[in-house]
Parts: sequence; structure tokens; C-alpha cells
Amino acid sequence: MQCAYFDSARCRSCTLMGEPYAAQLRAKQDRCARALAGSVASTAWLPPVASAEAHFRNKAKLVVGGRPGAVTIGILDATGGGVDLRECGLYEAGLGEMLPLRADFVDDVRLEPYDVASRRGEIKHLIVTHSPDDELMVRFVARSRKHETLLRKHLPALQREIPSVAVVSMNIQPEHKAVLEGDLELVLTDRELLPMDVGGVTLQLRPNSFFQTNTAVAAALYRQARDWLGAVSPRSVWDLYCGVGGFALHCATAGSPPPDEVLGVELAPDGIESARVAAASLAALGQVTGNLRFEVGDATTLVHRGLEVPDAVVVNPPRRGIGTDLAGWLDSSPVRHVVYSSCNVDSLARDLAAMPRLRPVGARLFDMFPQTTHHEVMVLLQRWSA
Ligand SMILES: C[S@@+](CC[C@H](N)C(=O)[O-])C[C@H]1O[C@@H](n2cnc3c(N)ncnc32)[C@H](O)[C@@H]1O
Repeated sequence: MQCAYFDSARCRSCTLMGEPYAAQLRAKQDRCARALAGSVASTAWLPPVASAEAHFRNKAKLVVGGRPGAVTIGILDATGGGVDLRECGLYEAGLGEMLPLRADFVDDVRLEPYDVASRRGEIKHLIVTHSPDDELMVRFVARSRKHETLLRKHLPALQREIPSVAVVSMNIQPEHKAVLEGDLELVLTDRELLPMDVGGVTLQLRPNSFFQTNTAVAAALYRQARDWLGAVSPRSVWDLYCGVGGFALHCATAGSPPPDEVLGVELAPDGIESARVAAASLAALGQVTGNLRFEVGDATTLVHRGLEVPDAVVVNPPRRGIGTDLAGWLDSSPVRHVVYSSCNVDSLARDLAAMPRLRPVGARLFDMFPQTTHHEVMVLLQRWSA
């Protein structure tokens, strides 16, 4: 893929830009296989799942910069000045086409971009998600609620101009530090959920929930987990770090018979709320027969609550991995299968080394993030000694 922003050095975020995609994929596969060589046999690897090279991101996270009348959406340069990247080629078509209109909206209604150097202004980021049904969720991250009335007033105009805008919210991030968003989310539209059809399962997304950014590759990831677990038909499954429930909702229909019990656990209450809505819809359609539950909780302490131990566990932690405590519990528990999906092969390697009684019998790279060295790798572990 070629990118004019990269070639002119305006943006160097995609460090592999310009390298042939086949070579990128080979290098990522080699890197992951090398990092996991101590645990994962070369024969366990399935062929990597490739992505589209361009127009694969369902989400744009853009820094709002410049000044009223000349707003930029993109990144900041070394001096804190706004660099406009509204034509970035990574975004899905339905997302990229709408970015100029949203940038114009910021200008038209006179929202003040936040200026990092002077610590003045209001709007810090614009975060936009595009669904497979061609709907949009738009979030304005602001320093304070100062522009709330203005945004509410102009909301009907925004929705008239861009009818695909289904959910709009304002996130308040008052601190002067490099944090994308804050804790307070004000939903400005009647709708607060964006349905995301991922591989035939409709997940529900709230503004501040985590969601995989490459919908097509996420569908392959969830499908693989469902196939791996379906082949061993666990009676009960836990999905730890479940977010909006992607793995749990897919695994609830895995195997014959499918599991009787599926429990998803996640720290963020909004993720759990979204997962419950999606689960209720699946149940209403008769697609889930077992007991599918979601709970707010800490994955690392849940295992010490004395609950009945499941047959299989899915873990999909943040970059730091699951850590020695949870890894040690899984290793010494009677859990027979673990599916571990990771965005950091180094923490995955550490965690696998802490689970010697669980042997990797399958592994696969899912290229969620072409043009960068980021990766998602998933392994299937099977207990081989008590
Ligand atoms: C990589 S995301 C995975 C989300 C989900 N599995 C998916 O496919 O979209 C990691 C998730 O772990 C959650 N999380 C972080 N620490 C946690 C913890 N100690 N216990 C439970 N969830 C946690 C985050 O809020 C985030 O939603």
C-alpha cells in the first residue's frame, strides 16, 4: 500500500507502509513463531489469517487540532501543531468518506479545538466507529461540558447531513495528559448502541466499550475460537476479559451439543451491559440454548471465588497478559482447554511458560493491523498432565 501522508513524512504511524503485504505477513508470522518457540511446536501453526491491506479499520481515533476556521483531524506534530489526516487509507470506505463532513461540522458549529501548548480550547479527539450495516457512532472527546449545549443544538443538523450517524456521545477528559478518553460519557442521541454484525453474530457496542478494530479479521478470530472449542464440546466455558462478549457469544453456539453454561467476565460495566443485550437477542432468536451470563468483575480474582470450574476458558487480556497468578491458577486447575488470544506475543510467551501443564496444540496469527508490526495471535492449549 502507498500512502501520501507517509511518503511526505506527515505521518509515520504505519511503520511498515510501502512494504509488500506478503512480506509483512511473513515477518509477523516469523516473529510470533520465534517468540513462542519455547512452547509452540512449528507443526501447531495454522496458516496466518490475512487482512485487506487498506480500508480495514472500523474505527478512527483522530486528534482535533488547528484553530476555529482551520480545524485539523489527525495527529499532532512534534510541536503540538495539528496534522490533518482525513484521507487516511486505513479506514473502511463508509468511514473514510464521512470524515471530511465531520471535520467540517467541528468548524461549522464553532467547536474550539483543544490546544496542547496553551491548554486552551475544548475538543480534543473525534472517535468514530463504522458498523457493517453502514451506521456510525461519533464521539467528541472534550475537556469539559462547555460545548454540550452547542452539540445538542446541532445534533439534528448533523444527523440530517449524515443520516448514517446513529449514536453520538460526548466524552469528558479534563486532564492535560496523553490519555485518549475520560470516564464520563454523555450519550446525546436516543440510541446508545451500535449493532456490529461480526461473522453472523450481532454484537452491541456502547461508546466507551473496547471493540476489535478490524471487523473481518475479528470474525475470523471468533470463528477459530468457536471451531477449536466446538471440536471438544466443553460443557461449560468462561470468557475472561470478555469486552462486549465476542468470544462468549460465538462459543455459546460451539459444539454438539453446545455448552450448557457460558460466563463472560469483564471489568468495564458498559461492556457487560452491551454483552447482555446481545445475549438476550441471540436467545430470543433461539440461537442459544444454554445458560449465557455476563458479570462485571476482575478476571484475576474471579478464579478465587470458589465457583464451579469450567471445562474450557477463553482469555483475551490487554497487552500485559494474564500474569502469573491467573496463569498459575489455570495451570493447576482441572480446566481441560484454554483459548488464549493475545495482542502481545511477548507477554503471551511469558504466560505460556507459566502454564507447563497446558500444551499448545494449535496456534494462528490474525493480522488485525496491516502496515504496522502489531499482531493478534491465538493459541489453543490442552491439558496433558494432571
Ligand atoms: C483486548 S480487550 C478484549 C475484549 C474482548 N475479548 C473482545 O474480543 O473484544 C481486553 C479487555 O479486558 C478488560 N480488562 C482489563 N483488565 C481486566 C481484568 N482484570 N478483569 C476483567 N477484564 C479486564 C478490558 O476492559 C478490555 O475490555
